[in-house]
Amino acid sequence: MTGIFITIEGPDGSGKTSVIKHLLPKLEKELAQKIVATREPGGSEIAEKIRELILNPEHVEMDVRTEALLYAAARRQHLVEKIIPALNKGEIVICDRFVDSSLAYQGVARGIGLEPIAAINQFATGGLSPHLTLYLDLEAHVGLERINKNKDSRQFDRLDQENLAFHQTVRSAYLDLVKQNPTRMIAVNANQELEKVLSDCYTILVEYFRQL
Ligand code: TMP
Repeated sequence: MTGIFITIEGPDGSGKTSVIKHLLPKLEKELAQKIVATREPGGSEIAEKIRELILNPEHVEMDVRTEALLYAAARRQHLVEKIIPALNKGEIVICDRFVDSSLAYQGVARGIGLEPIAAINQFATGGLSPHLTLYLDLEAHVGLERINKNKDSRQFDRLDQENLAFHQTVRSAYLDLVKQNPTRMIAVNANQELEKVLSDCYTILVEYFRQL
């Protein structure tokens, strides 16, 4: 496997999707290489179907372990169909969320525990881990305010419905993950103007590729 696998993580409303959308063309130009941009849950036809199932706001009775297994199942399918083939071709893959999301949301915020979530994801990924993860850090209430403001342009999903305490736990779980993985995960302050968030992310990425 010769490609580079980069993930973007962050609480809901942290702006991951906008960051990827704006940075992609700039980065492709800088590196003179096409980049595969994808997202989780989803990224392939089957995985997008699993996404619909997980995030449907009507599925209020979904059990937390079912939810964790579905995220892992979507991840497996996405990896096999899209990420691994691209990495095997030497491509750069940027993915909006990956295993860290399951650790923060299902492992900590849902209270399942980090170990079982790490175990099912080890099964799903075969141990494939990102080379670099940008973590967009934002206080939970700011993220939720952004989501409420953009309600009309963004799909409001089942996890957005969780209360502030849930999203605060997600954020603190992410901060712990950054502490535990200081070489892989780099935190960026997402509570700034989009332009500044973009330039911070861009600087980190360009520096990463310069050092390869
Ligand atoms: P998105 O809004 O970034 O597309 O993600 C959809 C929701 O799914 C978001 O609330 C985070 C959640 N999620 C998990 O709970 N566990 C996971 O493993 C992933 C990938 C996402």
